[in-house]
Amino acid sequence: MGNAVILAAGKGTRMISKHAKVMQKVLGEPMIGHIADHLENAGIDRIVTVVGYKGEEIREYLGTRSEYAVQEPQLGSGHAVMMADALKNEEGKTLIVNGDCPLISAETYKEFLNESEGYDLTVLTMVCEDPGSYGRIIRDKNGDFLRITEFKDCNEEEKKITEVNAGIYCADNQLLWKYLPEIRNENAQKEYYVTDLVQIFLSHGKKIGAVIAKDPDEMMGINDRKMLADANTWLKHKVNERLMKEGVTLIDPEHTYISKDAKIGKDTVIYPNVVMEGHVTIGEDCVITSGSYLRDAKIGDSCTVDASEITDSEIAEETTVGPDSHLRNGCKIGAKCRIGNFVELKNTTFGYNTKCAHLTYVGDAEVGSKVNFGCGVVTVNYDGKHKFRTVIDDGAFIGSNVNLVAPVHIGKKALLAAGSTITEDVPDGGMGIGRVRQSNKEGFGEKYLNK
Ligand code: UD1
Ligand code: CA
Repeated sequence: MGNAVILAAGKGTRMISKHAKVMQKVLGEPMIGHIADHLENAGIDRIVTVVGYKGEEIREYLGTRSEYAVQEPQLGSGHAVMMADALKNEEGKTLIVNGDCPLISAETYKEFLNESEGYDLTVLTMVCEDPGSYGRIIRDKNGDFLRITEFKDCNEEEKKITEVNAGIYCADNQLLWKYLPEIRNENAQKEYYVTDLVQIFLSHGKKIGAVIAKDPDEMMGINDRKMLADANTWLKHKVNERLMKEGVTLIDPEHTYISKDAKIGKDTVIYPNVVMEGHVTIGEDCVITSGSYLRDAKIGDSCTVDASEITDSEIAEETTVGPDSHLRNGCKIGAKCRIGNFVELKNTTFGYNTKCAHLTYVGDAEVGSKVNFGCGVVTVNYDGKHKFRTVIDDGAFIGSNVNLVAPVHIGKKALLAAGSTITEDVPDGGMGIGRVRQSNKEGFGEKYLNK
């Protein structure tokens, strides 16, 4: 239960990009995706994302996970919050979250919400060795929280303060909407700062709090490419440490890039320079070698993926893929299959123990169990306008260099002669042969070579 506003309308000038800043990826997922994941996991069930610069990219990516408010022009973070007035009538607390803080975990949000109990407005702060250009937390002699001063508005003394604003706020929703109109833009940047709410709440005698976060790195607000790289490195270490604790061998965790929610079974070994993005699940006792790229993939126990790419696809236990193969667009490969070198499979299913070891393309096909593909088989699935399906039943043997011109159906235990171009169905147990008959010319070769 709870509401959140994500501020994501800013141009992100410092990123030097033609995309919305919050669409920049950290370990393969846009920053805004990380934030939505964490807020959802913290129990927030109503999210309003304030979009502006390249807002359509954000809407397309987040879809129905969020509602949207448009901020045009972008007059500052406080002005951005004002746009989320769809939340005006909600009761309880509202979290306000900068869209460029993707590393803050659900646990931190939950703790922050708990610690906000009893306050009308709370700010998440952090203490940094190098506080850079973050807004400074100004406290009085007794340590009571007074206001936030943006770096550009700080005097030399204030610039030395190491406690800074992380850009995460929790406000009583009714008071928030009451006081938002009081924000003014009388500051160095002529912007409406959300941070001014602190002083405004205080001036009305409301209770304000500042909660210091345990890990300042997690609070990182990503403004430029350097910080984007730092965020990648930080999250990579966190994910890789979790996986190692769970019994996964990472030969070189410094050079292994695995998405934050990946589930990997124990005794699986991951070589350096492996990248996994999106939703990846891998069983136990697998080996994933260098150069492999997995996105939205499910791998059973005891599989090998050797320098191969698997996207939007599943392989069952004891199957081997690669080196240098590519499975994509909804492939479902059964157990104990062998997909060898330079094989591309697209939108294709294999049953149990089917083998396709060399230089082959199978697309839009339904292949049964114990089928054997020779080298260089091609499903001809596309006529330039439409895609057609190939069906190959259990136990069929597809000779080398066969073209299967779809739609075509190869029956159980059928045999296709090497080099055939198959344009018609072959019945169960039959043999399909479709190639030009060979003729030999006596002595012709020797004569030619001696010329
Ligand atoms: C902001 C805080 C600063 C804090 C830091 C933490 C303000 C005024 N300052 O600074 O105190 O230390 O975050 O990371 O808030 N945005 C809009 N519309 C706008 C302007 C900004 O939606 O008109 C969004 C941005 O897309 C971004 C977020 O608000 O996601 C913060 O804006 P940004 O410009 O990054 O603020 P900082 O200067 O980093
Ligand atoms: Ca920022």
